[in-house]
Amino acid sequence: MMGWTNRHARYFHRQLTRNAMTYSEMLAPEAIVRGNKKRWLRFSPEEHPVAFQLGGNDPKMLAAAAKELEQVGFDEINFNVGCPSKKGKGNPFGAHLIRHPQVVKACMQEMIEAVNIPVTLKTRLGVDEQESYDHLAEFVGLTKESGCRVFIVHARKAWLDGLSTRQNREIPPLRYDYVYRLKREFPELSIVLNGGVTDWDQAKLHLQHVDGVMMGRTAYKEPFCLAEVDRLFFGGSEPDPTPPEVMQRCLPYVEAELARGTPLREMVRHMVGIYRAAPAASVFRRHISIEGHRPGAGRSVYLEAIHIAERLSRPGRAEIDQP
Ligand SMILES: Cc1cc2nc3c(=O)[nH]c(=O)nc-3n(C[C@H](O)[C@H](O)[C@H](O)COP(=O)(O)O)c2cc1C
Repeated sequence: MMGWTNRHARYFHRQLTRNAMTYSEMLAPEAIVRGNKKRWLRFSPEEHPVAFQLGGNDPKMLAAAAKELEQVGFDEINFNVGCPSKKGKGNPFGAHLIRHPQVVKACMQEMIEAVNIPVTLKTRLGVDEQESYDHLAEFVGLTKESGCRVFIVHARKAWLDGLSTRQNREIPPLRYDYVYRLKREFPELSIVLNGGVTDWDQAKLHLQHVDGVMMGRTAYKEPFCLAEVDRLFFGGSEPDPTPPEVMQRCLPYVEAELARGTPLREMVRHMVGIYRAAPAASVFRRHISIEGHRPGAGRSVYLEAIHIAERLSRPGRAEIDQP
Protein backbone atom coordinates (compact mmCIF):
# COMPACT_ATOMS: atom_id res chain seq x y z
CA MET A 1 0.00 0.00 0.00
CA MET A 2 1.74 3.10 -1.30
CA GLY A 3 2.79 5.50 1.42
CA TRP A 4 2.02 2.96 4.14
CA THR A 5 3.88 -0.30 3.63
CA ASN A 6 7.51 -0.94 2.82
CA ARG A 7 9.84 -3.91 3.20
CA HIS A 8 10.09 -3.30 6.96
CA ALA A 9 6.31 -3.59 7.28
CA ARG A 10 6.43 -6.89 5.41
CA TYR A 11 9.20 -8.21 7.64
CA PHE A 12 7.16 -7.28 10.72
CA HIS A 13 4.00 -8.86 9.30
CA ARG A 14 5.95 -12.01 8.51
CA GLN A 15 6.72 -12.41 12.21
CA LEU A 16 2.95 -12.54 12.77
CA THR A 17 2.10 -15.03 10.02
CA ARG A 18 4.42 -17.45 8.27
CA ASN A 19 1.95 -18.30 5.53
CA ALA A 20 -0.08 -15.32 4.37
CA MET A 21 1.16 -13.81 1.13
CA THR A 22 2.36 -10.22 1.39
CA TYR A 23 2.37 -7.74 -1.49
CA SER A 24 4.60 -4.78 -2.12
CA GLU A 25 3.21 -1.36 -2.85
CA MET A 26 2.85 -0.55 -6.55
CA LEU A 27 5.95 0.57 -8.40
CA ALA A 28 6.56 1.60 -12.01
CA PRO A 29 8.79 -0.91 -13.81
CA GLU A 30 11.09 1.90 -14.94
CA ALA A 31 12.10 2.43 -11.31
CA ILE A 32 13.52 -1.09 -11.32
CA VAL A 33 14.96 -1.27 -14.81
CA ARG A 34 16.50 2.21 -14.87
CA GLY A 35 16.26 3.40 -11.28
CA ASN A 36 17.87 2.76 -7.93
CA LYS A 37 17.96 -1.04 -7.97
CA LYS A 38 19.61 -1.23 -4.59
CA ARG A 39 16.67 0.58 -3.09
CA TRP A 40 13.82 -1.20 -4.84
CA LEU A 41 15.10 -4.75 -5.14
CA ARG A 42 16.27 -5.14 -1.58
CA PHE A 43 14.25 -7.41 0.65
CA SER A 44 14.90 -9.86 3.45
CA PRO A 45 14.82 -13.61 2.68
CA GLU A 46 12.52 -13.87 5.70
CA GLU A 47 9.84 -11.94 3.83
CA HIS A 48 8.85 -14.99 1.73
CA PRO A 49 6.27 -15.58 0.41
CA VAL A 50 6.24 -12.09 -1.06
CA ALA A 51 4.84 -10.63 -4.27
CA PHE A 52 6.03 -7.47 -5.99
CA GLN A 53 3.40 -5.26 -7.55
CA LEU A 54 4.06 -3.41 -10.80
CA GLY A 55 1.97 -0.68 -12.40
CA GLY A 56 2.44 0.52 -15.97
CA ASN A 57 1.39 -0.12 -19.56
CA ASP A 58 4.55 -0.98 -21.50
CA PRO A 59 4.70 -4.77 -21.95
CA LYS A 60 8.46 -4.90 -22.66
CA MET A 61 9.36 -2.67 -19.74
CA LEU A 62 7.09 -4.65 -17.40
CA ALA A 63 8.63 -7.92 -18.59
CA ALA A 64 12.16 -6.59 -18.04
CA ALA A 65 11.27 -5.53 -14.50
CA ALA A 66 9.51 -8.84 -13.82
CA LYS A 67 12.67 -10.72 -14.84
CA GLU A 68 14.81 -8.72 -12.45
CA LEU A 69 12.31 -9.26 -9.66
CA GLU A 70 12.29 -13.00 -10.30
CA GLN A 71 16.09 -13.09 -10.32
CA VAL A 72 16.37 -11.49 -6.89
CA GLY A 73 13.85 -13.98 -5.50
CA PHE A 74 10.34 -12.51 -5.41
CA ASP A 75 7.71 -15.25 -5.42
CA GLU A 76 5.06 -13.58 -7.56
CA ILE A 77 4.56 -10.56 -9.78
CA ASN A 78 1.26 -8.76 -9.38
CA PHE A 79 0.01 -6.33 -12.01
CA ASN A 80 -1.98 -3.36 -10.71
CA VAL A 81 -5.11 -2.61 -12.74
CA GLY A 82 -7.00 -1.10 -9.82
CA CYS A 83 -5.29 2.12 -8.74
CA PRO A 84 -7.70 5.03 -9.39
CA SER A 85 -5.06 7.78 -9.15
CA LYS A 86 -5.59 10.68 -11.53
CA LYS A 87 -1.93 10.30 -12.49
CA GLY A 88 -2.97 7.17 -14.37
CA LYS A 89 -5.17 9.08 -16.80
CA GLY A 90 -2.99 10.50 -19.62
CA ASN A 91 -0.59 7.61 -20.01
CA PRO A 92 -2.96 5.07 -18.53
CA PHE A 93 -2.03 2.74 -15.72
CA GLY A 94 -3.87 1.22 -12.77
CA ALA A 95 -7.67 1.25 -12.97
CA HIS A 96 -7.53 3.43 -16.09
CA LEU A 97 -6.38 0.31 -17.93
CA ILE A 98 -9.74 -1.36 -17.30
CA ARG A 99 -10.85 0.52 -20.41
CA HIS A 100 -7.95 -1.03 -22.33
CA PRO A 101 -8.22 -4.78 -21.77
CA GLN A 102 -6.09 -5.54 -24.84
CA VAL A 103 -3.22 -3.57 -23.31
CA VAL A 104 -3.67 -5.44 -20.03
CA LYS A 105 -3.63 -8.73 -21.90
CA ALA A 106 -0.46 -7.78 -23.78
CA CYS A 107 1.28 -6.68 -20.56
CA MET A 108 0.31 -9.87 -18.76
CA GLN A 109 1.32 -12.05 -21.69
CA GLU A 110 4.75 -10.48 -21.95
CA MET A 111 5.41 -10.84 -18.21
CA ILE A 112 4.11 -14.41 -18.11
CA GLU A 113 6.43 -15.35 -20.97
CA ALA A 114 9.38 -13.64 -19.30
CA VAL A 115 9.29 -15.37 -15.91
CA ASN A 116 8.60 -18.73 -14.29
CA ILE A 117 6.91 -17.37 -11.18
CA PRO A 118 3.15 -16.63 -11.12
CA VAL A 119 2.03 -13.33 -12.62
CA THR A 120 -1.28 -12.29 -11.07
CA LEU A 121 -3.63 -9.40 -11.69
CA LYS A 122 -5.34 -7.03 -9.25
CA THR A 123 -8.34 -5.17 -10.57
CA ARG A 124 -11.70 -3.61 -9.71
CA LEU A 125 -15.26 -4.33 -10.83
CA GLY A 126 -15.15 -1.60 -13.46
CA VAL A 127 -14.76 2.14 -13.87
CA ASP A 128 -17.11 5.13 -14.11
CA GLU A 129 -20.35 4.19 -15.87
CA GLN A 130 -19.51 0.47 -15.88
CA GLU A 131 -22.03 -0.91 -13.40
CA SER A 132 -22.86 -4.36 -14.63
CA TYR A 133 -21.31 -7.72 -13.88
CA ASP A 134 -20.98 -8.20 -17.63
CA HIS A 135 -18.21 -5.59 -17.86
CA LEU A 136 -16.20 -7.46 -15.26
CA ALA A 137 -16.80 -10.83 -16.91
CA GLU A 138 -15.82 -9.43 -20.29
CA PHE A 139 -12.63 -7.93 -18.87
CA VAL A 140 -11.64 -11.14 -17.11
CA GLY A 141 -12.65 -13.29 -20.08
CA LEU A 142 -10.35 -11.33 -22.35
CA THR A 143 -7.37 -10.81 -20.05
CA LYS A 144 -7.29 -14.45 -18.95
CA GLU A 145 -6.28 -15.27 -22.52
CA SER A 146 -2.86 -13.98 -21.47
CA GLY A 147 -2.47 -17.09 -19.34
CA CYS A 148 -3.20 -15.29 -16.06
CA ARG A 149 -4.80 -17.69 -13.60
CA VAL A 150 -5.13 -15.55 -10.47
CA PHE A 151 -7.36 -12.48 -10.30
CA ILE A 152 -7.50 -10.39 -7.13
CA VAL A 153 -10.67 -8.33 -7.30
CA HIS A 154 -11.29 -5.22 -5.21
CA ALA A 155 -15.05 -5.62 -5.01
CA ARG A 156 -15.99 -2.07 -5.92
CA LYS A 157 -15.66 -0.06 -9.06
CA ALA A 158 -13.64 3.16 -9.34
CA TRP A 159 -15.07 6.53 -10.23
CA LEU A 160 -12.11 7.91 -12.14
CA ASP A 161 -13.94 11.10 -12.96
CA GLY A 162 -14.96 12.87 -9.78
CA LEU A 163 -13.66 10.88 -6.82
CA SER A 164 -10.23 11.05 -5.23
CA THR A 165 -8.11 7.94 -4.72
CA ARG A 166 -9.14 7.90 -1.08
CA GLN A 167 -12.86 8.32 -1.83
CA ASN A 168 -12.55 5.49 -4.31
CA ARG A 169 -11.72 3.17 -1.42
CA GLU A 170 -14.96 4.02 0.39
CA ILE A 171 -17.71 5.49 -1.75
CA PRO A 172 -18.41 3.07 -4.60
CA PRO A 173 -20.44 0.28 -2.97
CA LEU A 174 -18.94 -3.14 -2.39
CA ARG A 175 -20.47 -5.83 -4.62
CA TYR A 176 -19.23 -9.12 -3.27
CA ASP A 177 -21.89 -10.92 -5.30
CA TYR A 178 -20.03 -9.95 -8.51
CA VAL A 179 -16.84 -11.57 -7.24
CA TYR A 180 -18.66 -14.73 -6.13
CA ARG A 181 -20.30 -14.97 -9.54
CA LEU A 182 -16.95 -14.54 -11.23
CA LYS A 183 -15.71 -17.63 -9.40
CA ARG A 184 -18.84 -19.56 -10.38
CA GLU A 185 -18.49 -18.63 -14.03
CA PHE A 186 -14.69 -18.98 -14.22
CA PRO A 187 -14.08 -21.99 -11.96
CA GLU A 188 -10.70 -22.62 -13.60
CA LEU A 189 -9.41 -19.29 -12.22
CA SER A 190 -8.25 -18.58 -8.72
CA ILE A 191 -10.35 -15.64 -7.54
CA VAL A 192 -9.22 -13.60 -4.54
CA LEU A 193 -11.67 -11.15 -2.98
CA ASN A 194 -10.53 -7.79 -1.61
CA GLY A 195 -12.25 -4.78 -0.08
CA GLY A 196 -13.87 -4.06 3.27
CA VAL A 197 -12.80 -7.25 5.03
CA THR A 198 -12.19 -6.32 8.66
CA ASP A 199 -12.14 -9.65 10.52
CA TRP A 200 -11.55 -13.34 9.98
CA ASP A 201 -15.20 -14.37 10.38
CA GLN A 202 -15.97 -12.29 7.31
CA ALA A 203 -13.00 -13.84 5.53
CA LYS A 204 -14.28 -17.34 6.33
CA LEU A 205 -17.67 -16.50 4.82
CA HIS A 206 -16.06 -15.19 1.64
CA LEU A 207 -13.92 -18.30 1.41
CA GLN A 208 -17.09 -20.32 0.94
CA HIS A 209 -17.39 -18.59 -2.44
CA VAL A 210 -13.87 -17.67 -3.56
CA ASP A 211 -10.32 -19.02 -3.35
CA GLY A 212 -8.68 -16.33 -1.28
CA VAL A 213 -9.15 -13.10 0.63
CA MET A 214 -6.84 -10.09 0.61
CA MET A 215 -6.96 -7.74 3.58
CA GLY A 216 -5.52 -4.24 3.23
CA ARG A 217 -6.24 -1.46 5.71
CA THR A 218 -7.24 -3.57 8.69
CA ALA A 219 -4.12 -5.72 8.40
CA TYR A 220 -2.01 -2.58 8.38
CA LYS A 221 -3.80 -0.60 11.08
CA GLU A 222 -4.40 -3.55 13.41
CA PRO A 223 -1.53 -5.85 12.48
CA PHE A 224 -1.95 -8.13 15.45
CA CYS A 225 -4.97 -9.69 13.74
CA LEU A 226 -2.40 -11.42 11.53
CA ALA A 227 -1.21 -13.47 14.52
CA GLU A 228 -4.26 -15.73 14.12
CA VAL A 229 -3.93 -16.37 10.41
CA ASP A 230 -1.68 -19.45 10.45
CA ARG A 231 -3.88 -21.23 12.99
CA LEU A 232 -7.20 -20.24 11.41
CA PHE A 233 -6.39 -20.73 7.74
CA PHE A 234 -3.21 -22.76 7.33
CA GLY A 235 -3.60 -25.57 9.88
CA GLY A 236 -0.98 -24.08 12.20
CA SER A 237 -0.80 -25.66 15.65
CA GLU A 238 1.58 -23.28 17.40
CA PRO A 239 0.13 -20.79 19.88
CA ASP A 240 -0.39 -17.31 18.46
CA PRO A 241 2.60 -15.09 19.25
CA THR A 242 2.16 -12.24 21.74
CA PRO A 243 3.08 -8.64 20.85
CA PRO A 244 6.34 -8.65 22.88
CA GLU A 245 7.33 -11.97 21.28
CA VAL A 246 6.79 -10.51 17.85
CA MET A 247 8.83 -7.45 18.73
CA GLN A 248 11.61 -9.66 20.09
CA ARG A 249 11.63 -11.62 16.84
CA CYS A 250 12.15 -8.34 14.99
CA LEU A 251 15.05 -7.25 17.23
CA PRO A 252 17.94 -8.76 15.20
CA TYR A 253 16.43 -7.28 12.05
CA VAL A 254 16.02 -3.86 13.66
CA GLU A 255 19.63 -3.97 14.89
CA ALA A 256 20.95 -4.94 11.47
CA GLU A 257 18.93 -2.24 9.72
CA LEU A 258 19.99 0.42 12.25
CA ALA A 259 23.61 -0.56 11.60
CA ARG A 260 22.93 -0.01 7.89
CA GLY A 261 21.63 3.47 8.58
CA THR A 262 17.88 2.79 8.33
CA PRO A 263 16.06 5.23 10.65
CA LEU A 264 14.19 3.48 13.47
CA ARG A 265 10.94 5.24 12.53
CA GLU A 266 10.91 3.46 9.14
CA MET A 267 10.58 0.16 11.01
CA VAL A 268 8.54 0.98 14.09
CA ARG A 269 5.87 3.12 12.46
CA HIS A 270 4.19 -0.09 11.26
CA MET A 271 3.99 -1.43 14.82
CA VAL A 272 2.01 1.40 16.34
CA GLY A 273 -1.33 -0.44 16.00
CA ILE A 274 -0.17 -3.72 17.49
CA TYR A 275 -2.52 -3.21 20.45
CA ARG A 276 -5.23 -1.69 18.26
CA ALA A 277 -6.81 1.29 20.01
CA ALA A 278 -6.79 -0.25 23.52
CA PRO A 279 -6.62 2.71 25.96
CA ALA A 280 -4.19 0.84 28.23
CA ALA A 281 -1.70 0.69 25.39
CA SER A 282 -1.53 4.44 24.80
CA VAL A 283 1.88 4.46 26.53
CA PHE A 284 3.14 2.03 23.88
CA ARG A 285 1.73 4.06 21.01
CA ARG A 286 3.17 7.28 22.44
CA HIS A 287 6.57 5.70 22.85
CA ILE A 288 6.60 4.45 19.26
CA SER A 289 5.16 7.65 17.80
CA ILE A 290 7.31 10.11 19.74
CA GLU A 291 10.52 8.43 20.89
CA GLY A 292 10.67 6.08 17.91
CA HIS A 293 10.46 9.00 15.50
CA ARG A 294 13.17 11.18 17.04
CA PRO A 295 16.21 11.66 14.81
CA GLY A 296 18.93 9.30 15.97
CA ALA A 297 16.51 7.01 17.85
CA GLY A 298 18.11 3.59 18.09
CA ARG A 299 18.32 0.25 19.83
CA SER A 300 17.59 1.52 23.33
CA VAL A 301 14.31 3.09 22.18
CA TYR A 302 13.33 -0.20 20.57
CA LEU A 303 14.28 -2.18 23.69
CA GLU A 304 12.16 0.14 25.79
CA ALA A 305 9.24 -0.50 23.42
CA ILE A 306 9.67 -4.24 24.04
CA HIS A 307 9.72 -3.65 27.81
CA ILE A 308 6.52 -1.63 27.60
CA ALA A 309 4.94 -4.41 25.53
CA GLU A 310 6.05 -7.01 28.07
CA ARG A 311 4.46 -5.01 30.88
CA LEU A 312 1.25 -4.62 28.90
CA SER A 313 1.12 -8.33 28.12
CA ARG A 314 1.50 -9.58 31.70
CA PRO A 315 -1.36 -11.70 33.07
CA GLY A 316 -4.21 -9.46 34.06
CA ARG A 317 -3.60 -7.25 31.04
CA ALA A 318 -4.52 -10.03 28.62
CA GLU A 319 -7.56 -8.18 27.31
CA ILE A 320 -5.37 -5.86 25.26
CA ASP A 321 -3.56 -8.79 23.64
CA GLN A 322 -6.68 -10.07 22.00
CA PRO A 323 -6.49 -9.51 18.27
C1 LIG B 1 -2.69 4.14 1.73
C2 LIG B 1 -3.12 3.09 0.75
C3 LIG B 1 -2.29 2.76 -0.29
C4 LIG B 1 -2.66 1.77 -1.20
N1 LIG B 1 -1.78 1.40 -2.18
C5 LIG B 1 -2.07 0.35 -2.98
C6 LIG B 1 -1.11 -0.15 -3.89
O1 LIG B 1 0.03 0.32 -3.98
N2 LIG B 1 -1.48 -1.21 -4.66
C7 LIG B 1 -2.71 -1.79 -4.56
O2 LIG B 1 -3.00 -2.76 -5.26
N3 LIG B 1 -3.63 -1.32 -3.72
C8 LIG B 1 -3.33 -0.28 -2.92
N4 LIG B 1 -4.26 0.16 -2.01
C9 LIG B 1 -5.60 -0.45 -2.00
C10 LIG B 1 -5.64 -1.68 -1.09
O3 LIG B 1 -4.71 -2.65 -1.53
C11 LIG B 1 -7.02 -2.32 -1.11
O4 LIG B 1 -7.32 -2.74 -2.41
C12 LIG B 1 -8.11 -1.38 -0.63
O5 LIG B 1 -7.71 -0.63 0.49
C13 LIG B 1 -9.37 -2.19 -0.26
O6 LIG B 1 -9.07 -3.22 0.65
P1 LIG B 1 -9.27 -3.05 2.25
O7 LIG B 1 -10.69 -2.62 2.46
O8 LIG B 1 -8.97 -4.40 2.82
O9 LIG B 1 -8.32 -1.99 2.69
C14 LIG B 1 -3.91 1.13 -1.09
C15 LIG B 1 -4.75 1.47 -0.02
C16 LIG B 1 -4.36 2.42 0.89
C17 LIG B 1 -5.28 2.75 2.06
